[in-house]
Amino acid sequence: MSSPIHVDETGGSDDTGKGTLEAPYGSLAFALFTHPGATLLIRKDGAYEEPTQSALKKAKKGADGLEKKKKKAEELAERDALAKAQEKERKEKLIEESKKIVLVEDPSLPKAKKAKLNNLSELRGQRVRVSGWVHRLRDQKEIIFIVLRDGTGYLQSILTGKVAQTYDALTLTLESTVELYGTLQAVPEGKTAPGGHELIVDYWKVLGAAPGADDAFSNRLNEKSDPSILADLRHLVLRGETASAVLKLRAALMTSFRQTLTSHDLLEVTPPCLVQTQVEGGATLFKLDYYGQPAFLTQSSQLYLETCLPSLGDVFCVQESFRAENSHTRRHLSEYTHLEGELAFITFEELMNHIESVICETVDKLLADPISAALIKQLNPNFTEPARPFKRLSYVDAIKWLNDHGIQHEAEDAEGNVIKDEQGNPKMVDHVVGDDIAEAAERKMTDILGVPIFLHGFPAELKAFYMKKIPGKEGDAHVFTESCDLLMPGVGEIVGGSMRIADEQELIAAYKKEGIDPSPYYWFTDQRKYGTCEHGGYGLGVERFLAWLANRYTVRECSLYPRWPSRATP
Ligand code: 4AD
Repeated sequence: MSSPIHVDETGGSDDTGKGTLEAPYGSLAFALFTHPGATLLIRKDGAYEEPTQSALKKAKKGADGLEKKKKKAEELAERDALAKAQEKERKEKLIEESKKIVLVEDPSLPKAKKAKLNNLSELRGQRVRVSGWVHRLRDQKEIIFIVLRDGTGYLQSILTGKVAQTYDALTLTLESTVELYGTLQAVPEGKTAPGGHELIVDYWKVLGAAPGADDAFSNRLNEKSDPSILADLRHLVLRGETASAVLKLRAALMTSFRQTLTSHDLLEVTPPCLVQTQVEGGATLFKLDYYGQPAFLTQSSQLYLETCLPSLGDVFCVQESFRAENSHTRRHLSEYTHLEGELAFITFEELMNHIESVICETVDKLLADPISAALIKQLNPNFTEPARPFKRLSYVDAIKWLNDHGIQHEAEDAEGNVIKDEQGNPKMVDHVVGDDIAEAAERKMTDILGVPIFLHGFPAELKAFYMKKIPGKEGDAHVFTESCDLLMPGVGEIVGGSMRIADEQELIAAYKKEGIDPSPYYWFTDQRKYGTCEHGGYGLGVERFLAWLANRYTVRECSLYPRWPSRATP
């Protein structure tokens, strides 16, 4: 005799049980349904016993219900499989038939005007010819909807009838390139589409088919892809709506900066990237062999801009700067676009006012332009223009502010190693004048204050050799400089600037103090020799500025092909 089937109405389960003593079912009905004719034992709280007649009668009804349900599910699955097979057959047949369909452009139609997608507004109602990539694709009851992308914009396009029945139409894939001919129509009332119009396609061709199946675009990349895959496939990521919007805004930002700087009478120059002098300290130099001589990739074009003042007046440049920092933070790149300005015959106060004006006027222009304003709205819907004047906070006051707000930093020993307490946690201490305010503390302060801050007057020992000391304070314990960092909420430092040492002897002493050999700097020193002047300038990290403007998590999203430690591909 086969072993009895166990049912435990309190502890058993129909889903996970097996009907054994160890894993009983939860209901008598299920036991009857799965094991008709078997001996059944049931318990509720006490010992297992044979079920009563009335319990069996009730369970029989339940088992019949389950049987019916099972039959229905089987029928449904059968119907489903049949429908799928029919659909497959229909598609195969369609594809076979589609091979016979040859599209020809109707010669009686008006000649199609070639256009880019951002220039279609004036062509409503006319026949146009557009080319681009299949950005989105939807096949719906013999109508194919394509959102076409050509870099200048997007266009909803509709294929119906014969144009939707060709082999190319039935096998079209995302990211294929196509040329579409058709009439441009306003979208029906109540519907939306990019630009407010759609293309009713009457003729089209595939220019370059993208793969489907395993190698399909959406299989190589999607929102859940790992960051390292996204980095490797940056060239494909750029095709996305967000990444391309960031780069479009970047282009508008550069144009706006150039217009603003030009309106302030700064002239654009292009200094070299290959240099033989350091600007911001030897630790972050990328060294290379230059025809057998040591050379570096530039850290800043500042020194060259200074040499332009006597011939060109105030100048600016947009040049790549390179920093060999082993920093993996969200605001560090190994190569970044550095917008730098240099102005002659100014005071420190005028320098800070200038930086503030340039930033605010540049943002004003972007917001006044409908295209860039829409990009800002898309990427950073809560963006509000910062109020002027920007808050100014001296370095010494910032140290006090940090201590007043309990923002401490990790204590370090003389060798720069973090000191740990008995539990092995870093020992936290208050800030003192002379400390380099670390990124974390600076970020906390900026985010609490929530406005742009000009942090100014840093101690000389923390800053570059060329910075002008604050006059009249030479005897103090700390020597402070006419220097400023502009800090933005969410990003931190986006601009670093200062007045420069104007006196030749003072500069020579500064080289000496830093242990810099003055001979390769002869041309920089000459600026002080042949008619010196009070002057100052600044450098703005374009990717950091864009991260602030477009509310991006990291500067890596703000560069076309970002470089960071160990990453120089694609
Ligand atoms: O403060 P920094 O090092 O200043 C200079 O290089 C000056 N010589 C500029 C000048 O006065 N002409 O750098 C200026 C700005 C920073 O505020 C920051 O926005 C950006 O350059 N920056 C970086 N951006 C991305 N990645 C990095 N590793 C950066 N280092 C600096």
